Amino acid sequence: MADQKKLFIKTYGCQMNVYDSERMAEALGGSGYVATDSAEDADMILLNTCHIREKAAEKIYSELGRLKELKLNRPDLKIGVAGCVAQAEGAEIMRRQPAVDLVVGPQSYHRLPQMEADIRSGGRALDTDFPAEDKFDHLASRPKAQRGPSAFLTVQEGCDKFCAFCVVPYTRGAEVSRPVARVLDEARDLVARGVREITLLGQNVNAYHGLGPDGLDWGLARLIRELDRVPGLARIRYTTSHPNDMEDDLIAAHGDCAALMPYLHLPVQSGSDRVLKAMNRKHTAADYLRVIARIRAARPDILISGDFIVGFPGETEEDFQATLALVEQVGYGQCYSFKYSERPGTPAAERAQVDEDVKTDRLHRLQALLTQQQTEIQNAMVGRVVNVLFEKPGRMDGQLSGKSDHLHAVHVEAPTDLLGRVVPVRIVAAVRNSLAGVLIGDPDA
Ligand code: SAH
Ligand code: SF4
Ligand code: F3S
Repeated sequence: MADQKKLFIKTYGCQMNVYDSERMAEALGGSGYVATDSAEDADMILLNTCHIREKAAEKIYSELGRLKELKLNRPDLKIGVAGCVAQAEGAEIMRRQPAVDLVVGPQSYHRLPQMEADIRSGGRALDTDFPAEDKFDHLASRPKAQRGPSAFLTVQEGCDKFCAFCVVPYTRGAEVSRPVARVLDEARDLVARGVREITLLGQNVNAYHGLGPDGLDWGLARLIRELDRVPGLARIRYTTSHPNDMEDDLIAAHGDCAALMPYLHLPVQSGSDRVLKAMNRKHTAADYLRVIARIRAARPDILISGDFIVGFPGETEEDFQATLALVEQVGYGQCYSFKYSERPGTPAAERAQVDEDVKTDRLHRLQALLTQQQTEIQNAMVGRVVNVLFEKPGRMDGQLSGKSDHLHAVHVEAPTDLLGRVVPVRIVAAVRNSLAGVLIGDPDA
């Protein structure tokens, strides 16, 4: 084995990047790298980047400016850029920042060991191809170390939907689903290493259609039903979904599968049909509300979360009011809302833009409503008994912290041997962004 070197990865963006960062660390493990959580003592620093909004992308250049300083005193330090900014503007990064040694797009992580060897011998390396081979087939198998109780598992990647505002179809490429057997193997392996909760990931995870062991295409519902039978796997979640791909069987699975948690992230972006059409979402507000009603019929206690964009080109006050009205109708337990951000190369960037002040004002008004809904739903948990998967020590001594079925953060005074267990907890108070609870009875009873 080569000399041990230290690798520091900083992850931006969505959960898929979190998953990819773990895989990159494993891929470089074979080249003698071990993970460190400090940039100062690293031999290689990788930024796993996000291109979704302008701010996210600009952050990378300022971060690279800082890293360049580190390199002045340590000429052996290698700096790499991965992820969606790498994919979108790899050559530009190389040009703007000579301190960068390596740029690797999200579909080429399996080529990292070779690229690392190349830069060690003094060159620079850039790979932003969409290679024909599947990166998942080539990534090093995981070291069999124990893991925390909750893990991500990418089952689908890429997007064919081309919403008019979004870079993902360009940075992640076309939709690809991993075969069922590989997903199940990875899930079983995670469970064997202490994982109790798996979140299935995909840019459009509910468009999953992987090759099944029977030679047929399996949808997400069938995959979830199979995972529901994996002994020791207590919880299944999936994200992110598109409203047009919420098929009957998937909705039904929310009523049938004990391990499938009552939480669904289903972005709608806007409540105005005019804006939805301009966004190329291919559904109306009424279509979305119908899907929500059907999911709630299958699983009445499901908590819905969503994403919204305000100030999309052409959005009027009336359109914005339609968004507020939709939010009132749905009642969100959790939400992410953003000002529209112009992305180079996407159709909406070419259109007449809404004033920044107007965007800011709408964002504040939308967020006030969403926060009020979130707080009400969270406060309504007080007095109820909920199941909590304890994930880590809490902030206070003697506390553990975990997530409820509805993905609320819960803090409880509890012994550390409950880490990794799902335990009933009575909620006694709602704090700002979390709940406080107490153990009830014996967890094994
Ligand atoms: N695949 C998911 C999410 C993709 S990106 C979906 O279809 O919903 C996550 C969120 O970022 C989006 O839901 C959207 O709300 C937001 N987003 C994407 N592009 C954006 C842009 N150009 N400006 C502002 N927000 C954007
Ligand atoms: Fe982007 Fe739309 Fe694809 Fe989601 S569905 S990743 S918002 S293009
Ligand atoms: Fe960002 Fe790429 Fe994820 S643009 S949101 S890191 S898919």
